Amino acid sequence: MAPSVAAALIQPVEARPSIGKIKYLENVPLIDLAPLQMPQNSSKEDAIASIAKQVHNAMKEWGFFVVVNHCLSPDLWSNLKKAMAGFSALPYEEKKKVARDLRNPWGYNDKDHTKNVQDWVEVFDYMSTEELEIPQNMEPDCKETKIMGNLWPEKPDDFKKICQDFSQESVKLMYQLMELISLSLGLPSDRLHRYFEENVAYVRINHYSPCPHPDLALGKGAHRDGSAFTLLTTDEVSGFEVYRRSDGQWLRLRPIPNSYIIVAGDVLQVWSNDIYDSLLHRVVLDSQVERYSAIHVAAPSYHCVVKPLEELVDENNPANYGEYKWGEFFMTRRISNFKKVATDKGQ
Ligand SMILES: [Fe+2]
Repeated sequence: MAPSVAAALIQPVEARPSIGKIKYLENVPLIDLAPLQMPQNSSKEDAIASIAKQVHNAMKEWGFFVVVNHCLSPDLWSNLKKAMAGFSALPYEEKKKVARDLRNPWGYNDKDHTKNVQDWVEVFDYMSTEELEIPQNMEPDCKETKIMGNLWPEKPDDFKKICQDFSQESVKLMYQLMELISLSLGLPSDRLHRYFEENVAYVRINHYSPCPHPDLALGKGAHRDGSAFTLLTTDEVSGFEVYRRSDGQWLRLRPIPNSYIIVAGDVLQVWSNDIYDSLLHRVVLDSQVERYSAIHVAAPSYHCVVKPLEELVDENNPANYGEYKWGEFFMTRRISNFKKVATDKGQ
């Protein structure tokens, strides 16, 4: 057994990646969002309908797609990556000053777990809004509230501003995608807006340092995102892998400069009543090269009750899921809150 990887980070045999036998996904579902940047006219409406169809096909087949020619400047991500590199280089004691804890899920963490195995990653999480008022506890009739707020490090000097600049802009792409996803389900473009009234989208910046045994550990173990959907951007180092349901194959995505990978989460699976499935995905490490990525998580409002959309449920298509409260699910992070009526497909 390799002594340089702590036992807590070693994946069970069946979950370990086959390093040296990487299979790449060749026909990535790539969607060009350039028409969204056009002035409003009838050809734009046609182009949006065509994009919504592409979104539908990609989400049905894969549970993800990649967007290019979106509205975000490449500087937003390159600045965020540089800021995270500066933060990562700080002494551990400095980083621990903004570590998240059981009461506040925002800030630094180097002990993230997926299914009880520690991930080989350090992360920094922050909300796109600075503070959020939430119930004091999880009791159903709790009237007392508390403030949950971001934690910011003193260094690097411009860390907070760069993070805020990123999320302020990525929220705009999030809303464009939300409208496209809504249209892709045959619904009005603003159908999902009501679930995002309190803007609680959050961003996670990931730093994966080189791992001496990438055959034993994972940057992020196989999982599905609990949110509605996620916007993922990465540097030029590959590592993100998606699971192909048809043959049980893990496939690596080649990084595409200035693109975002849009990943379907569990909330979208429930809203769509299984028209779309959330994507099983993982992050594989490299023995020589470090890697950075960031995710903008389209999380519904804290008080949002998640259940299949009524337009997608009828006598022939009964609801496959019971309802659950997003905020409680997020805060407890317990899959037991994810109540499926029918048989569980597993995570
Ligand atoms: Fe994920």
